Amino acid sequence: MTVKTFRDYFNKTLIKLYPVSEIDTFLFLLLEEYLNFKRIDLVLKSNLKISAEVISILISSTKLLEKEIPIQYILRKTEFFGLPFILNEHVLIPRPETEELVAFVLDKVSKLENLCQIEKKKKLKILDIGTGSGCIPISLKKSLPLAEISAIEISNKALSVAKKNTLLNQVDINLIQQDILKTSELDDMYDIIVSNPPYVRELEKKEIKNNVLKNEPHKALFVKDNNPLIFYDKIAELAKNHLTKNGLLFFEINQYLGKETVELIRIKGFNTIELKKDIFGNDRIIIASVL
Ligand SMILES: C[S@@+](CC[C@H](N)C(=O)[O-])C[C@H]1O[C@@H](n2cnc3c(N)ncnc32)[C@H](O)[C@@H]1O
Repeated sequence: MTVKTFRDYFNKTLIKLYPVSEIDTFLFLLLEEYLNFKRIDLVLKSNLKISAEVISILISSTKLLEKEIPIQYILRKTEFFGLPFILNEHVLIPRPETEELVAFVLDKVSKLENLCQIEKKKKLKILDIGTGSGCIPISLKKSLPLAEISAIEISNKALSVAKKNTLLNQVDINLIQQDILKTSELDDMYDIIVSNPPYVRELEKKEIKNNVLKNEPHKALFVKDNNPLIFYDKIAELAKNHLTKNGLLFFEINQYLGKETVELIRIKGFNTIELKKDIFGNDRIIIASVL
């Protein structure tokens, strides 16, 4: 089978499920992975004969896409903040909104350092809560190599993925298995506490695409309709007592609960709160401190 023949089969199989642009991206990612293709090779090498071994992998990948398995789980990897991450079904696929969260943390850290509000000589201590693949602490550590970074996660299976990602990216993160909802004290004081906790309400399930609903871990995504801010409540409470002077709390939040989340954090005693929108114009990030 040539690249062109496979492409025809691939398009025909998936057109009922995905937009053309997405099918093109899937095709490129598969050919990049298994044939070392660059984008231009889709044109230049369309008559290339694909070996039987690779064809069989490509056909089984197509069948998985037909079952709406996300391409990142099929390839068992993704890119986040320009870095490689290993993935499996025990961890959430990192989202672009979360890359924005990391960018906000880095931006604030550089401004605080300039203002000398965070002592330059001191090693920054950072805690990520609900780390999943480890995408947040690993990206932060790459940009802030002197920082001491810890990450809490309830799932041992997710933590083992995070561990692999620290090795892949050659960074040292203190990974802790812990249920944050059952935590009354954190182990240390931190300059930055960051979290992208579960925040999608059960009632929002109808808005969620099948490929997310059927494949990504529900424990990482969903909260009960009657207590959707349970993680924000707990984490803000802990942060109140475990942030250093001028320390900052960063949250990724449910776009529909911006005002409610800000109000909850204000009631916890944070008096400087910024609510930021994501690239799609939705309320998505909160930065809070006590000044
Ligand atoms: C929305 S995901 C975020 C994962 C990752 N930080 C990211 O941004 O892609 C939330 C994470 O919190 C973890 N989690 C859920 N309940 C938890 C709990 N009670 N204590 C600690 N972690 C928890 C989930 O397993 C999941 O990995």
